[in-house]
Amino acid sequence: MEPDTQKVKDMLEACSSGKLHVVETLLKENPVYASQQDMETGASPLMAAATAGNLALCQYLLEAGAPWNAVDRQGQCAGNYATTAEHWAIVNLLVEWGTRAELILGAIERTSRDGNTNLPSSAPNARVEHEPSTKPDYLRQRLQYTEDGQALLDADNDAVMMEWERPLMKAHAQVLMDGPGKRVMNIGFGMGIIDSALQELQPELHIIVEAHPDVYKRMLASGWDKKPNVRICFGKWQDCLPKLIAEGVEMDGVFYDTVSGILNHFEQHHV
Ligand SMILES: C[S@@+](CC[C@H](N)C(=O)[O-])C[C@H]1O[C@@H](n2cnc3c(N)ncnc32)[C@H](O)[C@@H]1O
Repeated sequence: MEPDTQKVKDMLEACSSGKLHVVETLLKENPVYASQQDMETGASPLMAAATAGNLALCQYLLEAGAPWNAVDRQGQCAGNYATTAEHWAIVNLLVEWGTRAELILGAIERTSRDGNTNLPSSAPNARVEHEPSTKPDYLRQRLQYTEDGQALLDADNDAVMMEWERPLMKAHAQVLMDGPGKRVMNIGFGMGIIDSALQELQPELHIIVEAHPDVYKRMLASGWDKKPNVRICFGKWQDCLPKLIAEGVEMDGVFYDTVSGILNHFEQHHV
């Protein structure tokens, strides 16, 4: 059944104002209303609930199939809305949900690759919705940094990285740089969020591995090749790491955040 435009608006309004009975009625009528976005603004029910700070409704919508990473016309996702409104419990929920989706997707991908039918036990109950980033042609796609600096998008306008993940990246940087003079490596520059956080903590050596030409171009344009103690390795980590190991490079910590599962399979390499 085709979704009705007025009901899409009703759903958004119900999510903003916390009218759970309206949400339930609409979803019973057509579960697709969980993920329908406003044609004009791109606002989604999850964004509305996140802005309103309605944690229970966000959880309900995610379980009903609302995509955690859908973006509006400004390239903002529900996580951006929750961050702006400082609803940290919702930010945490979305991060957790996204992480779970990434892990499950990775397991599914490995299963289809290896012909292994043993999925992790959490898989049967979990939904994987609108996963944007497992794209075999990712490296050939044109990437785009949004003008407001809030996101890095791929050619389908799916988010590769988003500004709202900054607190998470900062926390990771703190873990990596737990003392002075550390030698750290980040795999996947994206928006350079974790690399900026690492720089603030003054590593002794800071290696950044990045495979995408558009991201690499951005790194050079913003002077990352001239930053103190930074060494950029342009290429897939699968190609760069063996060279670094052959050089005898040793690190205190490695952070790995490539787009889910693409260019794949970190777990096969023990570095
Ligand atoms: C999610 S973003 C990383 C965001 C980053 N943590 C930040 O704080 O902005 C993923 C990045 O990994 C890069 N990437 C993906 N696969 C890669 C690979 N095999 N080797 C190196 N970089 C890769 C992508 O081009 C992208 O820039």
